[in-house]
Amino acid sequence: MSMKIPFLKKKQKAEESQDDLENVPGHVAIIMDGNGRWAQRKGLPRISGHKEGVHAVNKVVKIASQSGVKALTMFAFSTENWKRPKSEVDFLMKLPKEFLHMYLPEIMDNNVRIKTIGEFDALPEHTKKVIEYAVDSTKNNDGMLLNFALNYGGRYEIIRAVDKIIHDIDSNGLSINELDEELFSQYLYTKELQDPDLLIRTSGEQRLSNFLLWQSAYTEFWFTDVLWPDFDEHVFKEALREYQQRKRRYGGL
Ligand code: IPE
Ligand code: IPE
Ligand code: MG
Repeated sequence: MSMKIPFLKKKQKAEESQDDLENVPGHVAIIMDGNGRWAQRKGLPRISGHKEGVHAVNKVVKIASQSGVKALTMFAFSTENWKRPKSEVDFLMKLPKEFLHMYLPEIMDNNVRIKTIGEFDALPEHTKKVIEYAVDSTKNNDGMLLNFALNYGGRYEIIRAVDKIIHDIDSNGLSINELDEELFSQYLYTKELQDPDLLIRTSGEQRLSNFLLWQSAYTEFWFTDVLWPDFDEHVFKEALREYQQRKRRYGGL
């Protein structure tokens, strides 16, 4: 029996060193799905799944920043999620406060910078206030960027970019001849970010649900049946290991 312990340790070591390989995705995007089903399976109200999911966010932030990921974009609320019952939406809008109250000190310790993408102004005042505080408190951190997609919709982001481009053509001397993919990207919420290398979706659903439509043109997708509140370091590392095996060709050979 005693033989087994060193063997396991070695195996674990081998897995850990595999995680340290150079091929770590620079930008990881996550569709955190399955909170409601997690709760329902336990006979609990949907909101308790959202509450539990907050801890999974913290676990992933920690492991991603330690693994050398440069940017982590987390889909927290879509432009379509307003369709849900008001009581659920109200609860979701209180979660940033819950998350930051518990974990902002740890985020600071990990040198993580917080930002958001999406239509921020349309969020409730109390939600905006806590997020603005977190963005401001972390603005000088130069570690991983933790980017929350809040009231985010990929199609709206594209329409908004077109609208801004038209405005710059009409009023700011932009020429239509300057328009190319690179310039277009500069009109998206994600202008400071490289496109996601790896996109993870939990809960067994295999769709984008209007997330990062433009940006995920050549992203590697990884799906898991794990429900978001059960997501942890081990599942994240599994996704990283699989990513490291992928061959990205971008249409070439
Ligand atoms: C993801 O979990 C959280 C948000 C979309 C805000 P869901 O609430 O979508 O959980 P399911 O998909 O209903 O299980
Ligand atoms: C996508 O999940 C949005 C977030 C995770 C924030 P949904 O649960 O809203 O997606 P659909 O409705 O199953 O496509
Ligand atoms: Mg869902």
